[in-house]
Order: sequence, then C-alpha cells, then structure tokens
Amino acid sequence: MNLSVQLAPKHQPGLLLANPVMTASGTFGYGTEYSHLFDIQRLGAIVCKGTTLKPREGNPQPRLAETASGLLNSIGLQNIGVRALIKEKAPLWASWHVPVIVNIAGETIDDYTQLAGELDGVAGISAIEVNISCPNIKAGGAEFGANHESAAEVTASVKAATSLPVLVKLTPNTADITKVAMAVAEAGADAISLINTLKGMVIDTGKRQPLLGNISGGLSGPATKPVALYMVYEVAGAVAVPVIGCGGITTASDAIEFIMAGASAIQIGTANFTNPKAPLDILEGIEQFLEKEGVKDITELIGVARC
Ligand SMILES: Cc1cc2nc3c(=O)[nH]c(=O)nc-3n(C[C@H](O)[C@H](O)[C@H](O)COP(=O)(O)O)c2cc1C
Repeated sequence: MNLSVQLAPKHQPGLLLANPVMTASGTFGYGTEYSHLFDIQRLGAIVCKGTTLKPREGNPQPRLAETASGLLNSIGLQNIGVRALIKEKAPLWASWHVPVIVNIAGETIDDYTQLAGELDGVAGISAIEVNISCPNIKAGGAEFGANHESAAEVTASVKAATSLPVLVKLTPNTADITKVAMAVAEAGADAISLINTLKGMVIDTGKRQPLLGNISGGLSGPATKPVALYMVYEVAGAVAVPVIGCGGITTASDAIEFIMAGASAIQIGTANFTNPKAPLDILEGIEQFLEKEGVKDITELIGVARC
C-alpha cells in the first residue's frame, strides 16, 4: 500500500512525505516534546511552532479557554526566535528522517523575507510554512492573509529568499479564502495549508469581562471541522497546487473526509492536547481504511468526493 504524497511537485527536489499525516504548528512544539510518547518519525511531517525573528513572550494570561467541542487560544506566537531554533533544534532534526517544516510569522514583509533567508540551507529543515493567518498578534500575521494582494506579496518575497519548498497557511477570517488561495498559488506557493483558527471570544460572567487576556482568540478543534472542510473543498477546486487540510481533525475518519474533499495531506492540531498519540492513531486508522476498501495508493482518494 502506498501512502506517500508529494507536496511540492513543481519544486526541485520537492517535498515527499511518507504518509499524509502532519502535525499542526503550535500544537506539537518542536517535535522533541512528543518523542518519548511514540515514534514521531512514523509521521509524514512535523510542523514546528510559529517562529519569529526575535524570541517572543506571547500574550498576557489567560491564553486558553475550552469551548463547546473546541479550544480558544491567544498564545500570541510565544517562541524561542529563529537564531535559537537554528542553533538548538535544527541539528537534532537533521538526524531525523521525518521532514520538519518551520512555520514562520512576522509583522512586516521584510520580517518574513529575512526569516526565509536565515532558514535557507539549514540542515534539518525541509520546508517553510508561511503563517499569514495568526489572529493573535497586534501587527502582521492574519492581516497579510486577509487580503489577496498582500498575501501574494509575502509569498513572492519568501519564495525569492529561499530554495526550500514554501507552504502558505491561510486564515478563514477573510471574505473570500478562494481568492487569497488563487493569488498565493499564482505568486509561487508550492502548497497551501488551511485553515488557521477562527476569531472568537469568551466572556467570564463572574468577572463581567473577556476571559482571555488578549480579549479575543482563535477557535480550533472539532467545532470548526465542517467550516474547515468546506474551505478545503472550495480551495482545492480553485488551485492546481497541493492543499493541506487542517481544522478539527480528531479521527482517521475526519482525516479521510479532508482527503476526499481534495487535501493531499492533513494536519492534526488541537487533538494532540486530548490525545498526544492522535497523529499516530489517525495514521493507523487511515491504513486500516485503505486496507478495508482495497485502495492501493492514497492518492486515489484525493478529491474523490468532489462534485
Ligand atoms: C495553542 C495553539 C497554538 C497555535 N499556534 C500556531 C502557530 O504558531 N502558527 C500557526 O500557523 N498556527 C498555529 N495554530 C493553529 C493550528 O496550527 C491549526 O491551524 C488550528 O488549530 C486548526 O487545527 P485544529 O483544529 O486541528 O487545532 C495554533 C493552534 C493552537 C490551538
């Protein structure tokens, strides 16, 4: 049975994953945090926490709130910064056979370009995921992803600064995600991942004030799955580059829905917090489904539910 998927077909040497199961940025640390729990190298790829030029402390607490079938977070890109990532994390990744993808975020286009330049040629890094979709920072982030022109500008600039495959991660907090996806593909994105979190809030009725220190946050988890699935369906029908589905995937059946909607790979996020072995369980569930259905190659399932 062949589970491998190519996420950057127009790129040389490309981004070949042994299987379509990836982790979602910000929910799986740097991979190392989970390596004692299961063989993380069985996964298709690991996407690390959103990385900025300088280290960030993130937003004021509280930064997490559980909601009905979901999670609201306002972490605000707390991370160690790109220099520490290159020095402390990449050397270990270079000894792994699972590809590691670095998720990057910035406040200006120049930030993204510099980040891409610094990561270029670093052993242990297989691709860049450009986060133009973080709802939890004051400047930059989702602002770039909400508008098709700025999304294309960031994409083109990052592409020019790196020889690595470039994935661009889209925000659902925009009027027309398909228009943004088409602009990003046109600007040279090798693949498109979606969705990041949906903007939301919770009020602490006892205190009569917003619960999160940042007032608003990003909603993820099972509550968002039908929204994410439909956006993946729409985007996959509009662009020729591979699409990576993300949003509320908790079971193998969820993952297969995204693949049938047109995703070449999927990312597991919030599910890692309730079941740290979720990516492995989902991978094994996909294998069982293929066996049961007599499917020899996972690529046969990509987009089969499209009308
Ligand atoms: C606590 C937390 C932190 C996150 N941090 C990032 C991040 O740094 N960069 C990014 O692109 N997405 C980040 N995300 C978004 C996830 O990668 C994913 O797109 C989103 O949570 C939807 O998937 P899920 O419903 O499976 O969690 C974060 C999500 C959560 C819950």
